[in-house]
Amino acid sequence: MSSHNILLLPGDGIGPEVMAEVKKVLNWLGSQGAAKFETETDLVGGAAYDAHKLAITDAATARATQADAVLFGAVGGPKWDDVPYEARPEAGLLRLRKDLALFANLRPAICYPALADASSLKRELVEGLDIVIVRELTGGVYFGEPKEIVTLENGQKRAVDTQVYTTSEIERIGRVAFELARKRRNKVTSSEKRNVMKSGVLWNQVVTALHKAEYADVQLEHQLADSLAMQLVRNPKQFDVIVTDNLFGDILSDIAAMLTGSLGMLPSASLGAEDPATGKRKALYEPVHGSAPDIAGKGMANPIAMMGSLAMALRYSFGLLEAADMVESAISNVLASGLRTGDIAAKGQNAVSTGEMGDAILKEMQRLA
Ligand code: NAI
Ligand code: MG
Repeated sequence: MSSHNILLLPGDGIGPEVMAEVKKVLNWLGSQGAAKFETETDLVGGAAYDAHKLAITDAATARATQADAVLFGAVGGPKWDDVPYEARPEAGLLRLRKDLALFANLRPAICYPALADASSLKRELVEGLDIVIVRELTGGVYFGEPKEIVTLENGQKRAVDTQVYTTSEIERIGRVAFELARKRRNKVTSSEKRNVMKSGVLWNQVVTALHKAEYADVQLEHQLADSLAMQLVRNPKQFDVIVTDNLFGDILSDIAAMLTGSLGMLPSASLGAEDPATGKRKALYEPVHGSAPDIAGKGMANPIAMMGSLAMALRYSFGLLEAADMVESAISNVLASGLRTGDIAAKGQNAVSTGEMGDAILKEMQRLA
């Protein structure tokens, strides 16, 4: 029986509320005997600041580094608006990304049939949509040097950002995309702007060479990022895995997200390098949404984004594909039965609480098992 060590970092606001639902599911999965889950819980964000005057402690960071996966809720809220900059809640997440070297950000866009009418696109364009954007997260124009604003002799100012990518940075993100595609529909679309950017030329060359050398069984296509943006809203179902740089990935993943409706529905994963000895990767799974202070403490949060993040952990960190499918099928079935939290309810429809939605998903999993 496989055993998995998980660090839970519920954080602030609705973070602990949605994490509580995931814990119910984990406990039940553990009781089924297919795998063993050892969970630890620690503080992050404002909760850590209140206890330690830090957004995350060294001890919690060390636990995250040793865990097989981190499940992260959300951080932040008005209560901590005035804390020192280095200790602001987001700093906890940024430190984890840095210390765990999480260079690959996976953002799925899944459209459950029951919610297809909530999309900004026509039902037939999004119904059954299931794509993943793999965004490079630690390089590119957000980090490249020089990065500065200088005053010129004529009094004008000049701002510079620099897009930098090396062969190895492109190769490792390309590898994540190809491996992912092999577990899905076996297709990768790589995106850059090689027509106007040198980094795009290199990106294209490196991905092409990697494909030829190691992943020829996966279908590969290249699309310029602007044209890809157009295709994402014209015919999103043509894609399976899209791999792109930090900047384009930031924008394209937000477009893809909105094809499927509410923030309360969107999971994500951030992956680090593979340990050659164990084959394991550092990984952090979190909903895309924040701590939602406007609804925190009211039992109104949609736990599905957090549940979907658990499903990704089961699939990508633990190799428990059946359990992952079961979580996702349960979500889909519960939505099909008409159950809705406030954020996805139709006007005038009765909304269920966070706990009721979580319980319904768990009950559906028990029925499917
Ligand atoms: P937010 O995602 O927390 O909320 C935006 C809107 O969506 C709110 O109206 C909220 O009620 C709603 N919403 C979000 N998640 C929901 C869910 N699961 N169920 C139902 N409704 C949901 O973003 P906002 O308001 O910009 O930020 C609030 C706080 O969260 C800030 O302190 C911000 O810094 C922090 N934040 C943290 C993130 C993280 O921990 N990774 C990401 C984004 C924001
Ligand atoms: Mg963004």
